[in-house]
Amino acid sequence: MQPQNVFWVTLLLFYFQAETSPVQLNGVLGNSITFQINESKPFATISWFRIEKNSKFSTLALVAPKKPCKLLIPLQAFKERVSSTKDCRNLHLSHLNQEDMNRYTANIALTTSEKINEHFDLKVYKHLQSEDLSINCTINRGQTKSLQLNCSVERWNDKLDVQWDVAEGIISRVTHENLLTINYTSRQIFDQEVSCKVENPVSKVSKTMTLKEACSKHKRYVSKKTVVARFIVAGLSMFSGIVVAFTVWLIPCHSRRPWFPCTTFARTAEEAQMDPENPLPPPPQPPG
Ligand SMILES: *[C@@H]1O[C@H](CO)[C@@H](O)[C@H](O)[C@H]1NC(C)=O
Ligand SMILES: *[C@@H]1O[C@H](CO)[C@@H](O)[C@H](O)[C@H]1NC(C)=O
Ligand SMILES: *[C@@H]1O[C@H](CO)[C@@H](O)[C@H](O)[C@H]1NC(C)=O
Ligand SMILES: *[C@@H]1O[C@H](CO)[C@@H](O)[C@H](O)[C@H]1NC(C)=O
Repeated sequence: MQPQNVFWVTLLLFYFQAETSPVQLNGVLGNSITFQINESKPFATISWFRIEKNSKFSTLALVAPKKPCKLLIPLQAFKERVSSTKDCRNLHLSHLNQEDMNRYTANIALTTSEKINEHFDLKVYKHLQSEDLSINCTINRGQTKSLQLNCSVERWNDKLDVQWDVAEGIISRVTHENLLTINYTSRQIFDQEVSCKVENPVSKVSKTMTLKEACSKHKRYVSKKTVVARFIVAGLSMFSGIVVAFTVWLIPCHSRRPWFPCTTFARTAEEAQMDPENPLPPPPQPPG
């Protein structure tokens, strides 16, 4: 729209006409919403505008009451998404996305040539599923051992109403809207469960997991088992080393496989005689 047009539309919308306070609408991401006007008198046209945060105007639709309704949608972007109800009074907007969060105004021209504005403030929320929630954990190992849990909805920046549920006896504090800090002294705490409940105007979900699951990327702090397992592995490898050493020492040379190292001190004359491939040299003959 040209700047002059914006000026005239603004004048039209805000100075010369009957106003009502805006209606709050909560839409669901991907779903549709219907803007319903209150005015019941016969009308000549309804012009639907969208007013963005930077005061930019877009004309969503122009509707005239015919059978079927005469619907003009000037912007290509809205052609697929905008439709009118049968009585031509209400407007549908489908496939809602985050950019649709704006003020919408219906400028109603009555047949008496009186004009009325009705306003709608649309918010769009994601219908949350439990899978949308994630609880991430950061462990701090200072003088006081503490961990921080972050409950968030991936790829969604909207402000969320987050609530935490922890077992009794856990020392915890909400340090930021979606952050929970827990002080702990022993690893046993990681067997406890925490829940994060998130609510927005169109949905309510929660996720429950043990601290062990939430903090699984910090394995060495979390699990007793891995420490024990490491001791067992270390013990076993030491033990097998000792066994190999003893085997080398004890097995007589002649009964070993050819690739097995043979230490000479283990060879007695008797063994050597029994070893046909490698006999002892004959005793030196006295000269003469
Ligand atoms: C319709 O009327 C109700 C009750 O008078 C009012 O609260 C609401 O804001 C009106 N809707 C619009 C779109 O102005
Ligand atoms: C948070 O945890 C989820 C699993 O619960 C994981 O998929 C995601 O990558 C983690 N995000 C960060 C920033 O660590
Ligand atoms: C919490 O997690 C979200 C999503 O991964 C991230 O954007 C945000 O920065 C995190 N907050 C803190 C304080 O780590
Ligand atoms: C955890 O311990 C630190 C240091 O002693 C303290 O400042 C903090 O308030 C404690 N946090 C909680 C949740 O009690």
